[in-house]
Amino acid sequence: AFYPFLAVLAAYLVGSLAFAVIVSKAMGLADPRTFGSKNPGATNVLRSGSKAAAVVTLLLDALKGFVPVLLVKLYGPSFGLGERTLAMVALAAFLGHLYPVYFRFKGGKGVATFIGVVFGIDWLLGVATGVTWIIIAFFFRYSSLASLVSAVFAPVFYVIASGPKWYAETVVAGALFVMALLLAWRHRENIGRLLQGKESKLGSKAKA
Ligand code: G3P
Repeated sequence: AFYPFLAVLAAYLVGSLAFAVIVSKAMGLADPRTFGSKNPGATNVLRSGSKAAAVVTLLLDALKGFVPVLLVKLYGPSFGLGERTLAMVALAAFLGHLYPVYFRFKGGKGVATFIGVVFGIDWLLGVATGVTWIIIAFFFRYSSLASLVSAVFAPVFYVIASGPKWYAETVVAGALFVMALLLAWRHRENIGRLLQGKESKLGSKAKA
């Protein structure tokens, strides 16, 4: 059980890199944990006014979920690693983002990393989930709502696309469900604001 452990640990350590904080610092911007929603994520980095920093954050936070999953998928079998390790590695990268070891375990809400992980599991599933995010964001202009809806749909898409086979790969479906639940839990304040009509729309900047 050494290789699975090593893969999960590596995924967690990579997932712990809070790129919202790292990129903002590197670009000389304010720490996203100090303004707006105070969340270290691409949406909140966008509230600083820098689209470039937000895009880079989004890409890097997604890559840290995508790359570990893809590596297990490509090279796992030669080390005897299968679906179970894949599911655990996906979860570990995601949990790293939520509870980062380098940032006193205070991380983000997991959206970008979730999408990256989903792309790693299956690129079409990633496209379907990403497109769901874009459609909701386009029509409603709330990043959080788009994230919540796509997180609910990702496991549903997975089960539908896999057909009866999903049952044989329950661990992956299970990991997707757990991630969607954690993602929703991390958005509990956003959900409250959405219900009260107080959520900030995409594109509005943080009040200093
Ligand atoms: O990326 C997380 C997004 O869904 C919500 O972020 O900053 O609006 O709480 P934020």
